[in-house]
Amino acid sequence: MRAAIIGTGYVGLPTGTGFAELGNDVVCIDKLTEKIDMLNDGKITIFEEGLEELYQKNRRAGRLKFSSDIAQIEGADVVIIAVGTPTHPVTKEADLSCLFEAAEELAVYLKKYTVVALKSTVPVCTGAEVERIISKKNPSADFDLVSIPEFLREGFAVYDFFNPDRIVIGTDSARAIAVLNRLYAPFSPKTPILITTRNSAELIKYASNAFLAMKILYINEISNFCEKCGAKIEEVAKGMGLDSRIGSKFLKPGPGYGGSCFPKDTLALTKMAKRYNVSLHLTDTAIEKNEERKLDMAHRIADIMGAQSATAAILGLTYKSGTDDVRQSPAIDICKELLRLGISLRVYDPKGMQNAEEQLKDQVYYAADPYDAAANADALVILTEWDEFAELDFNRIRDLMQSAKIVDFRNILNSRQVEGFLYHRLGCGVHPCSLVNS
Ligand code: UDX
Repeated sequence: MRAAIIGTGYVGLPTGTGFAELGNDVVCIDKLTEKIDMLNDGKITIFEEGLEELYQKNRRAGRLKFSSDIAQIEGADVVIIAVGTPTHPVTKEADLSCLFEAAEELAVYLKKYTVVALKSTVPVCTGAEVERIISKKNPSADFDLVSIPEFLREGFAVYDFFNPDRIVIGTDSARAIAVLNRLYAPFSPKTPILITTRNSAELIKYASNAFLAMKILYINEISNFCEKCGAKIEEVAKGMGLDSRIGSKFLKPGPGYGGSCFPKDTLALTKMAKRYNVSLHLTDTAIEKNEERKLDMAHRIADIMGAQSATAAILGLTYKSGTDDVRQSPAIDICKELLRLGISLRVYDPKGMQNAEEQLKDQVYYAADPYDAAANADALVILTEWDEFAELDFNRIRDLMQSAKIVDFRNILNSRQVEGFLYHRLGCGVHPCSLVNS
């Protein structure tokens, strides 16, 4: 089949590459000509596990092409729109301007029956609006506007593309369902394909992300309680997760959730609901408490460090491991609060240094590696769960540091590794200092 993907970001590029790998002819379109030039030159523009290999393979095979000219959608069986829908700075709702622009531009190139599918995360009824925009611009266009929400995790986008828990197709058009059933045929029968109304499909995405955000908030709250009552969060989470109604995933305590989706989607969901005079109290609380969590984490670090003119070595700046993305990263907010409290920072991240520099500017020292970060520091603070942080030589780290303190907000170290350190982890013992070893 012929597919066109509009938007070559964290969703569009893995999606386009994935469909090319499945044997389709794919053209990925983006307005940013520099991006397209790079992709045409064989240079991948994002870091995503396993993506580069598939991108190179399919590009060479001629199944995966790139263009900044939207006219290239002409002749596609399916046009997938995967442009960003960031939080609007003023309204805090999803900013749909790029999406509407793309719809208006593509309309004139719909010259045969085409399924136009929205993969961007959009508020309920956006599909109807996009349908209106296209029909107004090109009244003779023969198309169906369908919602196919994405559930790709950053860092695992390739894995998630090929191993989805479900595929949701929001439409009442039998013609569109037939086309998408062909596109998704390689996933059948392993993956359930759920056909819903367009509005339901649009809401499924927001409702899922908000639920997962609340699950994280909940485990973080229980983790706080564990610290006071002497329970251990890993044991509690394991015991909870074995209940199949709860499930074991998304029960890891941390410094708060971040990334380009959860913070944006929870905000957009409550804003959207308010337009219908519906209050989503749980989601509102999750947004508020997640912000508080990040500040609380910074103040805990400051408490543990004691002196105001202290230096912290920060390991991890991305919002989770496996990505170079620092958008809405708790680590960045924690760094900003620590700087405000007068603490000097020596920071290191295996993939996120460049992006972090745009946020933290020249206010911190950018270390060459974790050992450089630890040099003369008063505390080593782990904010992202990179595997390499659990493989460090902690004897060497201890010798390098001014004061042997570790704050592990991802709970990745074991008691053997932290021997000889004052060690603080989440959800264990009594706050503020749960001393495994001292
Ligand atoms: C999320 C959704 O999982 C995905 O389905 C959707 O399409 C896009 O948004 P992503 O933003 O890539 O994916 O990250 P995810 O792996 O879900 O993690 C989000 C945040 O939650 C991270 O900051 C992570 O550290 C945090 N988290 C996750 C926890 O603190 N504890 C957990 O147990 C799981």
